[in-house]
Amino acid sequence: MIKSIILAAGKGTRMKSETPKVLHTIFDKTLVGYVLDALNKTNLCDENFVIVGHQAERVNEYINNNYSNAKTVLQSPQLGTGHAVSMVLPYLENYCGDVIILCGDTPLITSETLKEFIEYHKSTNSDLTVMSAIFENPTNYGRIKRTSQNKLDSIVEEKDANSEEKAIKEINAGIYCLNWKKIKSAFSELKTNNAQGEYYLTDIIKWANEQNLNVDVYTLKNNEEIFGINSKQHLAEATKILNKKTIQKHLDNGVTIIDPDSTWISPETEIDRDTVIYPSCYINGKNKIGKNCKIGPFAHLRGEVVLEDNVKIGNFVEVKKTTIKSNTNACHLTYLGDSEIGSNVNIGAGTITANYNPLTKQKSKTIIKDNVKIGSNSVLVAPVTIEEGANVGAVGVITKNIPAWALAITRAPLKILNEWVKSQNNK
Ligand code: UD1
Ligand code: CA
Repeated sequence: MIKSIILAAGKGTRMKSETPKVLHTIFDKTLVGYVLDALNKTNLCDENFVIVGHQAERVNEYINNNYSNAKTVLQSPQLGTGHAVSMVLPYLENYCGDVIILCGDTPLITSETLKEFIEYHKSTNSDLTVMSAIFENPTNYGRIKRTSQNKLDSIVEEKDANSEEKAIKEINAGIYCLNWKKIKSAFSELKTNNAQGEYYLTDIIKWANEQNLNVDVYTLKNNEEIFGINSKQHLAEATKILNKKTIQKHLDNGVTIIDPDSTWISPETEIDRDTVIYPSCYINGKNKIGKNCKIGPFAHLRGEVVLEDNVKIGNFVEVKKTTIKSNTNACHLTYLGDSEIGSNVNIGAGTITANYNPLTKQKSKTIIKDNVKIGSNSVLVAPVTIEEGANVGAVGVITKNIPAWALAITRAPLKILNEWVKSQNNK
């Protein structure tokens, strides 16, 4: 097992936001969350150090509440990437294994690539492995300088590079794997004699070469994976890239998606084959959708939604934290939240589960058993249970549990006054 260091102390000025950069989200998961999840999914890394600085308290709180195997380490002031890594020295004084270093703002990195990278580092017996990528436009990245034998010599930052170095298209992806015991003393020897006056993490390559250590490069196959977020524009682009990849995966698995361009599906949604997703759906969070379902057009799944087979979720239907068993339909204009819904249920147009009490600020559950029919425009005031086979007449306002096979009607009886209109006109 190895350890990770995730650099996340930077300010992220270009986000123009009150929120720290790494807490921005794609499909409701934070940028640093994507990186931590990818690391955890490799099953090769058991402890993560997240370097925090700008708005440290907020990042701290998020990490502590969501990742039991991650610890935040404060870097203040922020004197560069090399300085950031050195903050971990006191925590890993006696550690002898490998460390992977990456950035908290590259949410598209996959666990497959990280796994391959770590395994490459181990199989080559390297003391330091740098991830590189070939970019047609390498501007702003550190450039990989190789020796005449094609070995890694050093990394030169854009701001320190001469025109010959600027022409190099192999860039530093900002992900490193290193033998901690052999490399750690480099961090105490870094200098700031560069264009930015910072302690550059990249200077450890030259240092390792001077110590005759084994230094190697692993070249990334899919450049999209190191797409770094620096602005809201980047955030939108990364969301699109991730969405496109997710949709492709579902198409390959036999899901029908009528219009990939207007469909949004979070990476943590599972969909079984022959389900049809109609245009303009937004499917967010973690969900599981069965076979032969029909979703949309214009449906909104907000997470923790489980649909068994043959379920229909139609236009302008919003579903959150809800399980729906097979052959149930909610075809139009409905909100289903915090609910358990059985099979062969029909939810009429305009049905609302009133799950939230604004006075107590509490959410409650609606339980609808098999074969229930809910008439149009009904409000089910939770907590409430509609037992098996019961019917709710249209415009029901249901504030009590309804027994099995009963009919519940809450509307005033219809009155018909014959010739009433004419009688008014004759006055
Ligand atoms: C860095 C690399 C560059 C590489 C690029 C890849 C250095 C010197 N340069 O450049 O070779 O091509 O990443 O994206 O490392 N951070 C801290 N504390 C600090 C400074 C930065 O935690 O004191 C964090 C930032 O929040 C960010 C990461 O480190 O997540 C990278 O910092 P950034 O300033 O963006 O580095 P680049 O200039 O892009
Ligand atoms: Ca910088």
